[in-house]
Amino acid sequence: MLLSVWLLAGLAPAGANEPNRPEAARSEVSRYEARVNALLSSPETWQKARQDGKKAAFFCANCHGEAGVSTLGHVPNLAGQNPVYLMTQIQKFGDGRRRDDFMSGLIKVLKEEDRLNMAIYYGALDVRPTPAKNPRLAREGQLHYRRACLGCHGQQARGGRDIARLAGQQKPYLMDSLKKYRSRAEGRSDRVMSSIAAKLNDEQIESLAEYLSSLP
Ligand code: HEC
Ligand code: HEC
Repeated sequence: MLLSVWLLAGLAPAGANEPNRPEAARSEVSRYEARVNALLSSPETWQKARQDGKKAAFFCANCHGEAGVSTLGHVPNLAGQNPVYLMTQIQKFGDGRRRDDFMSGLIKVLKEEDRLNMAIYYGALDVRPTPAKNPRLAREGQLHYRRACLGCHGQQARGGRDIARLAGQQKPYLMDSLKKYRSRAEGRSDRVMSSIAAKLNDEQIESLAEYLSSLP
């Protein structure tokens, strides 16, 4: 049975790279992390969470794809994403800190247990990267990534804990997200990411997305 990298990344102790987050956000993350770790602690509870999560996620497949790999560029892949990150984003949609016409209404009807099971189900699915169409642009993106992003999103862009995996994500979605952070769009801004994205121009954003979407 595959133990994706998120499992290792997700369980790693918070390191020196942990961004300086407000206290409330840290305690929310710790609470989800404890619940995720409890479900991952034995093969039986992990297996059950994945099965229940798969059932609860049948409707999500319409947009996020059968195996968590979306066929719509503006809809993010959920496969291989860190479960604690997924859980924090689901909660954010649920309480209005993050907003999207469709996601916000949908998530409100789900119980916390379903949310956790879905996060675990999606986190265990395989990532499917898209080969870079423009290798020169991707190389530029790699340089920007190493300079400005690697410290938090990790050497291989696989994130960890509440930090998003970016490797293999849809290119249009990555670009949209960075532009939303940059403009501090209502419904998607973040203290840390918005100040980082503020320093990126459109070309840098495109090169980063070209590079990141091609990573396994
Ligand atoms: C009608 C299409 C649609 C359906 C159905 C849908 N989603 Fe989404 N989902 C989206 C879009 C679009 C976004 C990106 C929104 C944004 O840009 O903020 C998204 C974002 C997300 C994210 C954030 C991912 C990230 O990388 O930050 C999570 C988690 C998520 N959806 C989970 C779910 C779950 C669980 C279900 C089923 C209960 C579901 N979605 C059903 C369209 C959909
Ligand atoms: C100080 C730590 C830190 C740095 C440096 C950082 N990020 Fe982030 N990033 C985060 C956190 C935390 C989140 C989750 C924010 C949220 O909840 O919306 C995030 C979220 C994202 C997302 C949204 C992912 C998704 O699935 O929706 C993208 C895209 C992203 N970062 C790209 C980048 C890029 C590109 C860089 C470098 C230019 C970068 N980040 C640098 C901490 C960081």
